[in-house]
Amino acid sequence: MDKLLIEGGGKLNGTMRASGAKNSALPILASSLLLEGKLSLSNVPHLKDVTTMIEVLGSMGAEISLDDDMNFEIDTSNLNNHIARYELVKTMRASVLVLGPLLAKFGQAEVALPGGCAIGSRPVNLHLESMKKLGAEVVTEGGYIKAKAVNGLKGAEILFDTISVTGTENVLMAAVLAEGKTIIKNAAREPEVSDLIECLCQMGARISGAGTKELLIEGVHELNPTSFKIIPDRIETATYLTAVAMTGGNITIKDSRPDTMESVLDKLREAGAEITTESDSINLKMDSSLKSVDISTAPYPLFPTDMQAQFISLNTIAKGQAKVVETIFENRFMHVQELIRMGGDISLAGNTAIITGNSDALHSAPVMATDLRASASLVLAGLVAKGVTKIDRIYHIDRGYERIEEKLNALGAKIERVSG
Ligand code: EPU
Repeated sequence: MDKLLIEGGGKLNGTMRASGAKNSALPILASSLLLEGKLSLSNVPHLKDVTTMIEVLGSMGAEISLDDDMNFEIDTSNLNNHIARYELVKTMRASVLVLGPLLAKFGQAEVALPGGCAIGSRPVNLHLESMKKLGAEVVTEGGYIKAKAVNGLKGAEILFDTISVTGTENVLMAAVLAEGKTIIKNAAREPEVSDLIECLCQMGARISGAGTKELLIEGVHELNPTSFKIIPDRIETATYLTAVAMTGGNITIKDSRPDTMESVLDKLREAGAEITTESDSINLKMDSSLKSVDISTAPYPLFPTDMQAQFISLNTIAKGQAKVVETIFENRFMHVQELIRMGGDISLAGNTAIITGNSDALHSAPVMATDLRASASLVLAGLVAKGVTKIDRIYHIDRGYERIEEKLNALGAKIERVSG
């Protein structure tokens, strides 16, 4: 099993390019199931989760090709089954994103029920209830969601009592080919949802309200081939900016979208970073002392849960005491125990972490990655810790950060990937 060895202590300086967004690529890959013909995608990040989604589509008979510039072409015209198997779904919960498009296009779907998860129970009840509202018969049997819509799906009003990103995406992909109008109320407003909407509209779907809490979808009979470029990954970008806020230095991230990450940029400024933006690039300079910042996670446009772990790391070495409240996932604090092993002064009570910062707090220790963003927080801690930090189980990082050690080493970090 691969591990990362990180020698902490240096500043990070230089320019990098943001990768395409994992959480946009996954639903957009699933949307290829809706098409008559091929979907061509560029800026797809090279990540384990993307490979898993490709495998899910491939296992149903989709034909996928990749050119030298890493552009994907997905052709789902010769699908031979409508099953997302447990062996794949158990490695990536987002596989459930094929449920909506399979039902809409083929009137049937079998998707393994995703099991437990390191960050919370993460049920899929909202996905299932909304498919039922659209007229599908849905049962769970033998560990599988079995859904049918023999006479096709029918538009409906769907109110999410909890905002769900992939729930909204599943309904969108089901409703675009349903008969009549669908209204999604309390929809997720994440930029990745808007990116999916843009791609679907390019295929000929009729959707209005992108970026708002209410989406209106008017069903069409078929969708057409298109080429689409995936939006830059705001969480990857924010993670690297946070790294430089912690180490000190100067970084420019090109091909990024600062307008999709204002809540994080505001918090980095509050922590003492100097940030300037252009429409597609961000510069962060850090030459003052780091100040602690309180955060509370919430759906977009507020502070993302996917940046909570990284900000706990930041607060361990900042001046002052910070309160970090996690409101989205009930168990997303697995990184805290690992950061405490590295010297962080953190106490947990329910969904709140209190961090007392100290610029010399972190020292190296062998630590274990438990989920994707938790792993990122350990990398950031390793970059500032005294000594060499060893992070085990880094396959979690490879699910969501493209070539992380290469990208950080290009800025001056000293990270080595070792196997065994
Ligand atoms: N929820 C339910 N029932 C459902 C669906 C969700 O109770 O049927 C609850 C969840 O348990 C959670 C809340 O609703 O408490 C929000 O979860 P959401 O459905 O929005 O999460 P998700 O769609 O499963 C996506 C991202 C996550 C990100 C969350 C929140 C993808 C593929 N995943 O997950 O990304 O943390 O939204 O923003 O888009 C990551 O990239 O590391 C990651 C975990």
